[in-house]
Amino acid sequence: MNREIALIVAHDRERAIGHAGQLPWHLPDDLRRFKALTLGHTVIMGRKTFDSIGKPLPGRQNWVLTRDPHWQVPGVECFGNWEQVVRQHRSGLLWVIGGGEIYLAALADVDRIESTEVDTRIAAADTWFPPLPDKQWDIVARELHAADERHAFGFDLVTRTRRRS
Ligand SMILES: NC(=O)c1ccc[n+]([C@@H]2O[C@H](COP(=O)([O-])OP(=O)(O)OC[C@H]3O[C@@H](n4cnc5c(N)ncnc54)[C@H](OP(=O)(O)O)[C@@H]3O)[C@@H](O)[C@H]2O)c1
Repeated sequence: MNREIALIVAHDRERAIGHAGQLPWHLPDDLRRFKALTLGHTVIMGRKTFDSIGKPLPGRQNWVLTRDPHWQVPGVECFGNWEQVVRQHRSGLLWVIGGGEIYLAALADVDRIESTEVDTRIAAADTWFPPLPDKQWDIVARELHAADERHAFGFDLVTRTRRRS
């Protein structure tokens, strides 16, 4: 059965991803891409990211990681650790959608990364994405998006696949 774990992240020049529980930018074309890539698949996120979104993402199976055994939200399946998630993901495409703690927990099992590299630096950031060792990842696509009237910053959409030696 076909089975893939992919990760999607938007980060600044220093890999910052969040500030005060929120995304530090509003980039509509990036959000549109997030939706297009994840729709119809399963998304796994940390409890804090779920709280910041506030409801299950429509059109996707929503999974949440939490250590709170009493945590429950209708329409969401919750998991107590990453290993449980891997065991439950038997087929199809699982998207790791953040935040920082979940990226760290999942990264070793990820096959593909879709990064939005935002051309800015968020001085007040409090959450980061880990560095990716060049030796482990091949860049297979890069698409440039300029800043414009709807996007305060330019960004690159970069696809990486894990190098298999
Ligand atoms: N730029 C982006 O692409 C992007 C994407 C997503 C999120 N974000 C941002 O990232 C920030 C949130 O990230 P964060 O790192 O603070 O929180 P998070 O990763 O979203 O959630 C952390 C929570 O997940 C649970 N958790 C973490 N590791 C676990 C494990 N191994 N097993 C079981 N449960 C685990 C814990 O929940 P309990 O406390 O309930 O036990 C923990 O408090 C926000 O600012 C958000 O906007 C950015």
